[in-house]
Amino acid sequence: MKRRILVTGGTGYIGSHTVVELQNNGYEVIIVDNLSNSRADVVDSIEQITGERPVFEKVDCLDYAALDGVFAKYPGIEGIIHFAASKAVGESVQKPLLYYRNNLVSLINILELMPKHGVKGIIFSSSCTVYGQPDILPVTEQAPIKKAESPYGNTKQVNEEIIRDTVASGSPIHAILLRYFNPIGAHPTALIGELPNGVPQNLIPYLTQTAIGIREKLSVFGDDYDTPDGSCIRDYIYVVDLAKAHVTAMNRILDNRQKDKVEVFNIGTGRGVSVLELIHAFEAATGVKLNYQITGRRAGDIEKVWADPAYANTELGWKADTSLEDTLLTAWKWQLHLREKGIM
Ligand code: NAD
Ligand code: WQD
Repeated sequence: MKRRILVTGGTGYIGSHTVVELQNNGYEVIIVDNLSNSRADVVDSIEQITGERPVFEKVDCLDYAALDGVFAKYPGIEGIIHFAASKAVGESVQKPLLYYRNNLVSLINILELMPKHGVKGIIFSSSCTVYGQPDILPVTEQAPIKKAESPYGNTKQVNEEIIRDTVASGSPIHAILLRYFNPIGAHPTALIGELPNGVPQNLIPYLTQTAIGIREKLSVFGDDYDTPDGSCIRDYIYVVDLAKAHVTAMNRILDNRQKDKVEVFNIGTGRGVSVLELIHAFEAATGVKLNYQITGRRAGDIEKVWADPAYANTELGWKADTSLEDTLLTAWKWQLHLREKGIM
C-alpha cells in the first residue's frame, strides 16, 4: 500500500517538481491547489514525466469545509507538504491583508485538520527571508530571525511560530520547516518549470525571457554593494534538488527519525553567487549573449545571503549536487519549451 501525501500548492513551481519526486519515490500524491498562480495542465505534465497521474482537487486552502472534505474523500493521508501561499514580496507590501489571510489562515486550517484525520507530519515551505541580512555568513539555522522586510517575509516567520506553538500545545503532529534559499531552474524534461504571471519579479525568469527576446534588457539592480563585483549575492539552488529535500524530510518524519517534533533545515547549496557571476555563467552555459544594464538598487534587497547547509547535509542526509551551469541550462530549455508551445 503506497503512503498517501497531500501536497498543497502542488501545481505550483516548487510543488509540481516535488510531486514528481514523491511519485518517483513510491508515494501516492493528492494535489490541492486553487490555481491562483498555476495551471491545471501541470497535472498532465507531471503524468507525462512519471507515468502516474496525481489526484488533483481544485480547492482553496482557505475553505475549511472543502479542505476537510478532501481528507474525508482520501482517507489515510500520512503527511502534508504545504506549499500553498502567496509569495510575491512586492505585492505583499501593496496587499498585506491578502497575504496575512492567505498565508496564515491556510496553514491554520491545515494544522487543525491534521489531528482530526490522523495526519502525522507536515513539511512547511519556509524561506531564508526569515534571516533578513544575516550578520554572519554563511547562515546557519541558529542565526537570529530578524524583523521581516515585507509582509510576505513576516507571514513566513509567523507561520513558523504558529507551527511551533501548535506542537508545544500538545498537538500530536510532527513538523519539518525547510528554509529555501533561491530556487531556480526547471525539470530536465522541460515539461514543468517556473511560469510567473505577468512581468517576472525574480531574476531567472526575467533573465531567460530577456535571452529569448521577450524582454529587451535585464536590469542588474545595483553594482555598488559590498561584494567582490558589487552586485548582490544569493544561494541559487536547483529546484529538483530542492524537491528531493522534501522527500527526504517526509521520509524522516514518517520513519520516526526526527530528533525533535519540530526541526528546521536550511535548504541551499552553500555557494554564494553574484548577479553578474550568474549572468556570465548563463552565457557560458548556453552560448547566448545577454543584454543587460546596471541600474539602481531595488528597495528591500538583501545585500548578500547564502546557506551553511551542513546540518541538512549531515542530519537530513540531503545535499544539493547540481552545478549552477547545469541548473541554468534547464531554465533555458524550459524557456525554449514555452516558446515552442506558444505559451510565451
Ligand atoms: P507558486 O506560486 O508557484 O506555488 C504556490 C501554489 O499555491 C500555486 O500553485 C497557487 O495556485 C497555490 N495557492 C496559493 N494560495 C492557495 C490557496 N489558498 N489554496 C490553494 N492553493 C493555493 O510558488 P512557489 O515558488 O512554488 O512557492 C511554493 C512555496 O515555497 C510558497 O509557500 C513560497 O512562499 C515558498 N518559497 C518560495 C521561494 C521561491 O523563490 N520560489 C523561496 C522560498 C519559499
Ligand atoms: C535575486 C537577485 C536582485 C531581478 C525573492 C524573495 C524571497 C524568495 C525568493 C519567496 C537580487 C537581482 C532580480 C532583476 C536583478 N521568494 N535581480 N534584476 O529577491 O533574492 O528573493 O525570491 O520566498 O523571499 O525575496 O530573488 O530573484 O528577486 O532576486 O538584478 O530583474 O537578483 O536584486 O539580488 P530574491 P530575486
